[in-house]
Amino acid sequence: MSTVNLIVLILLNLLLQSHAEDYRDIQLTCKKNFYITDCEILDDISELETTKVVNVAAPDEKVKLEKYFRVSNKSFPINMPIGIGELFPNLELLSIVLSPLKFIKRRNFASMEKLTTLDLRYNKIEKVPSKTFYDLPKLTTLNLSGNSIKFLHLDLFLNNPELEEFAAAKNEIKKLSFQTFQKSLKLKRFNVSFNNFQSISFDFTKLPNLTDVVFKNSFECNFEFKIDRNDHADCTHERCTHNLKRFQFWIEKYCAVVSELTGDEDDSPGPDSEKD
Ligand SMILES: *[C@@H]1O[C@H](CO)[C@@H](O)[C@H](O)[C@H]1NC(C)=O
Ligand SMILES: *[C@@H]1O[C@H](CO)[C@@H](O)[C@H](O)[C@H]1NC(C)=O
Ligand SMILES: *[C@@H]1O[C@H](CO)[C@@H](O)[C@H](O)[C@H]1NC(C)=O
Ligand SMILES: *[C@@H]1O[C@H](CO)[C@@H](O)[C@H](O)[C@H]1NC(C)=O
Repeated sequence: MSTVNLIVLILLNLLLQSHAEDYRDIQLTCKKNFYITDCEILDDISELETTKVVNVAAPDEKVKLEKYFRVSNKSFPINMPIGIGELFPNLELLSIVLSPLKFIKRRNFASMEKLTTLDLRYNKIEKVPSKTFYDLPKLTTLNLSGNSIKFLHLDLFLNNPELEEFAAAKNEIKKLSFQTFQKSLKLKRFNVSFNNFQSISFDFTKLPNLTDVVFKNSFECNFEFKIDRNDHADCTHERCTHNLKRFQFWIEKYCAVVSELTGDEDDSPGPDSEKD
């Protein structure tokens, strides 16, 4: 049984003209290292009589037309499969949630120029290497909540000018710097609740479209802000409706730049960063 393959059940949204919400089950059978072009798709397993085996190395047009790719499976590998973008060049949404995924890197997101939503909630990700999302110029929504991320690289969103929603709640982030988001001028919603902030250096007034910021139960900084550009003051410790300037004042006063961390151990590329 040396060629026992890893089988991952994938829920994949088939974009039919009139049934945009229909999901289709697809079964991938892969060699042990999960290079996705070594996988075979057992198509439409829910309708067994029409089931056919698709060789992923030469995917049919149907596969190329898929826009959504969703996985949630405890048997998912700790390294993200390489080649998803080549297999699904029209991908707009990629969702890998509640799985053991631990390592991601820039190469995993190659050939996904159309991707707008990346949902990696509740995995085991500890590091997001430098420029991981550099090849996703259309990215508007990124959700990294529920991982073990400790650091956000300053160049993480250098090439994601469309970013509107960022969530990294329930991680272990210690330091938040405006530099990470300096090119994300369209940012509207920002959720970093439940982290371990020790240092926050962030000028929120530089992000003109920001409306929601959540720092709930993040160390001393425990806020949920609705920013109101009309300057209606209604501010409490827990919830705050205010304009950006006033909001910045609250952040500085209560989320306090506690201390600059000395030596960013997480800033250097990890030894595992090129491992497959
Ligand atoms: C997850 O994958 C395993 C093994 O690859 C498979 O047997 C199982 O049915 C899948 N579970 C779900 C919920 O998709
Ligand atoms: C991110 O995930 C959390 C937890 O599931 C959810 O509450 C939040 O709405 C999501 N945020 C975005 C921007 O998708
Ligand atoms: C902010 O939002 C408005 C309205 O949606 C839009 O016209 C404008 O371009 C946005 N600003 C930036 C910097 O993207
Ligand atoms: C922020 O994230 C937390 C944790 O995932 C979630 O419970 C909460 O609903 C989110 N808040 C907003 C406003 O999206």
